[in-house]
Amino acid sequence: MPVPKAELHLHIEGTLEPELAFALAARNGVDLPYADTDALREAYRFQDLQSFLNLYYELMAVLRTERDFEDLADAYLARAAAQGVRHAEIFFDPQAHTARGVGMNTVVDGLWRALGRSEETHGVSTRLIMCFLRDESAESALATLDAAEPHLDRITGVGLDSAEVGHPPAKFREVYEAAAALGLRRVAHAGEEGPPEYITEALDVLGVERVDHGLRCVEDPALVARLVRDRIPLTLCPLSNVRLRAVDTLAAHPLPAMLDAGLLCTVNSDDPAYFGGYAGDNFDAVRDTLGLGPERLRELARNSFLAAFLDDDEERRGR
Ligand code: ADE
Ligand code: ZN
Repeated sequence: MPVPKAELHLHIEGTLEPELAFALAARNGVDLPYADTDALREAYRFQDLQSFLNLYYELMAVLRTERDFEDLADAYLARAAAQGVRHAEIFFDPQAHTARGVGMNTVVDGLWRALGRSEETHGVSTRLIMCFLRDESAESALATLDAAEPHLDRITGVGLDSAEVGHPPAKFREVYEAAAALGLRRVAHAGEEGPPEYITEALDVLGVERVDHGLRCVEDPALVARLVRDRIPLTLCPLSNVRLRAVDTLAAHPLPAMLDAGLLCTVNSDDPAYFGGYAGDNFDAVRDTLGLGPERLRELARNSFLAAFLDDDEERRGR
């Protein structure tokens, strides 16, 4: 039996497996520029974050209807449950859909058709976190928050993702302030490819409660000390870091040193259809390659629940 765990860093669009991509393409009459699933898998050789993002956004063309988003989320939840995930906090990228003419309602209502019954169907509780694309403008992020207002009973928090370098967190100060005023939880990708200063800025300017990746904090001992002192969770994604070349090899991943330093690390899958593994696969990989023993694996699982947004959102938001 896989260890029960929470998944805290998971882009639902990054769970689009090649087989589902082709099935949805056929259903929606979308032409994919790949002969078959093998040819598509061949394209999964990434040099960096941007080379992955190009394919990630391209394949989203197959997601058009509520049912597509429902099927995508259902497929993920079934796989996650099989790997011991009991709670999943799921990112989605509304701007990547609204920019193609797929409305916020279609995305949220479709995802919710799967998430709303997930405890019953899969034994997995869920939260939804809406991410702003940091390579889009601050105005676009504000418009996205506005468009989400009718759905806030189903959205727990906001996040920040997409191309990191050159798009520091401070660009999104205003939309994070607005999100906080609405009672939304705040997270942001920082220190994946970007420098440790982006992590500090996400904490100081955006008020994030959790840092997505946060890998490059290891370059700044004062920042590590702060993250340890303030018990700020980091949602690490080891297989993603290897595929996007944030680390040279899995064996060189700093996770063991980060745990030794007292950081509140969690292990997650990021975009599992693209990076070769779901949450349990990431746990297995760090066990097998980094030599983490049962005590460390239990700590990672415990951290995932400690870092989750499992308290009562409704009460906190006064709704
Ligand atoms: N969007 C999907 N996956 C991402 C990642 N690993 N970093 C930034 N943005 C993303
Ligand atoms: Zn991510």
